[in-house]
Amino acid sequence: MKILLIGANGTVGKAVAAELGTRHEIIGAGRNSGDLRVDIESLASVEKLFKEAGPVDAVIATAGSVHFGPLAEFTPEQYAIGLNNKLMGQVNLVLAGQKVLNDGGSFTLTSGIVTRDPIRYGSSASMVNGAVEGFARSAAIELPRGLRINVVSPNVLVESLAGYAPYFRGFEAVPAARVALAYSKSVEGAQTGQVYEVH
Ligand SMILES: NC(=O)c1ccc[n+]([C@@H]2O[C@H](COP(=O)([O-])OP(=O)(O)OC[C@H]3O[C@@H](n4cnc5c(N)ncnc54)[C@H](OP(=O)(O)O)[C@@H]3O)[C@@H](O)[C@H]2O)c1
Repeated sequence: MKILLIGANGTVGKAVAAELGTRHEIIGAGRNSGDLRVDIESLASVEKLFKEAGPVDAVIATAGSVHFGPLAEFTPEQYAIGLNNKLMGQVNLVLAGQKVLNDGGSFTLTSGIVTRDPIRYGSSASMVNGAVEGFARSAAIELPRGLRINVVSPNVLVESLAGYAPYFRGFEAVPAARVALAYSKSVEGAQTGQVYEVH
């Protein structure tokens, strides 16, 4: 398969590329890195990405930022960061990709454990992750031509603990290589409308 991986240079993306790159052709994309450049916040940029990539069988998004901060100080502008980037960025990939993906192709998006297991300062992350999962469940029943869509919801990664540990006390961090298996199941399996929790 030819797989377009957005966020290929990130912590999750590198592990996904290592898992799937042995069996498939990976086209890596990112905002400032990768074979192709894209800003997923812009639908026009995403459409240009698909033109440059050519026909692909799978799209994986391991890109997405949200703002973390105390609820008492959160502003609408700070919520908009996650809504525009992690939520609409991934939605933009599906909006543009549904028209150009090869028949039977797949989308795999990324949410995160805080959808259901919240942490302090994570109200935007929980909100956005829940929306990504709801979007995918619904898109799955409308996508044409046998296209599939799933979401991977990782726990905090072992590889990210250096920065995130204080916010995830009591969570059992998972290795990125184990999270990557869920992306493999989504791309190489047959299911659709699923949320794969690697918690
Ligand atoms: N790490 C964890 O413990 C963890 C746990 C649960 C969920 N997640 C979720 O998994 C996803 C990836 O996390 P990560 O830790 O791997 O992040 P990361 O290391 O910061 O990597 C993010 C990647 O996304 C790309 N990117 C960011 N904004 C972009 C944009 N507007 N357009 C295109 N590409 C963009 C970056 O590209 P450049 O490098 O080129 O800028 C980078 O390759 C996020 O949604 C995160 O919330 C992570």
